Amino acid sequence: MSNNLLANKKGIIFGALDEKSIAWKIAERCVAEGAQITLTNAPVALRFGKIKELGEKLNATVIPADVTSQEDLDNLFTQSMDILGGKVDFVLHSIGMSLNVRKKRTYTNIKYDWMQKTFDISAISFHRMMQTMLKMDAINDWGSILALTYIAAQRTFPDYSEMAESKALLESFARSFGYHFGTLKKVRVNTVSQSPTMTTAGSGVKGFDEFFGYADKMSPLGNASADTCADYCVTLFSDYTKMVTMQNLYHDGGFSKMGMNPAVLDL
Ligand code: NAI
Repeated sequence: MSNNLLANKKGIIFGALDEKSIAWKIAERCVAEGAQITLTNAPVALRFGKIKELGEKLNATVIPADVTSQEDLDNLFTQSMDILGGKVDFVLHSIGMSLNVRKKRTYTNIKYDWMQKTFDISAISFHRMMQTMLKMDAINDWGSILALTYIAAQRTFPDYSEMAESKALLESFARSFGYHFGTLKKVRVNTVSQSPTMTTAGSGVKGFDEFFGYADKMSPLGNASADTCADYCVTLFSDYTKMVTMQNLYHDGGFSKMGMNPAVLDL
């Protein structure tokens, strides 16, 4: 299915690691809708992931960039504009990593230098990315910037640990930078709050499989898949959503509005 919603648009997709990644599906969908893109991920992900395969499939150049490195980001936007032949129209931030979760430190025994690194990778990178784009004049007027987030920013999900604060910070950056980017360039900035999804980052969270089942039963429409997330993101990159900005948009089959669902009692 293609409606050419992104014809003549150029974009950069951060965070496709393998075919399970949400960014992988979004990249495929953007190209299917007529966009021309570059792909980027951390140098280590280029070595161990499958992003090069995706690049070949989509005819997209893969540019390594660690999002905590200003030099890498400068290079990424310079190269992308070169390859795509001008400024971009949309950017996806699909990046998350918690050092304390990965190293199995509990929330009440956090190592603070790891926490700072977690915030740097998972949230401050969003500000850094936008600040770089603004300084380099790398995005067209009426462009669209999105980051993926999770409802643990608003409600408590104990095993999500410090990623909850990362997501709260990320969503706040979308609002604050959304003001500046909107006033200066008519660029919109939003976050999409996605259902639990079976990916490398997702399944790193303790008890993820059980939680996935719980959320699926709690949501009237069931969990939203990565494929449907890609469909939604395409609309948010398209000209049909030009006046939507500074929002946290739930893409979760209704989970965020539920109190209790009898289906859950059958678990
Ligand atoms: P994923 O593991 O496929 O993607 C995470 C990406 O972050 C990877 O490609 C990884 O290489 C990249 N990354 C980590 N450190 C980096 C660095 N220093 N520089 C550049 N890139 C770096 O997993 P997934 O689930 O597709 O995650 C994408 C986004 O979706 C994340 O923001 C995640 O928090 C969010 N999300 C995921 C949900 C899930 O249940 N899987 C639910 C809601 C949101």
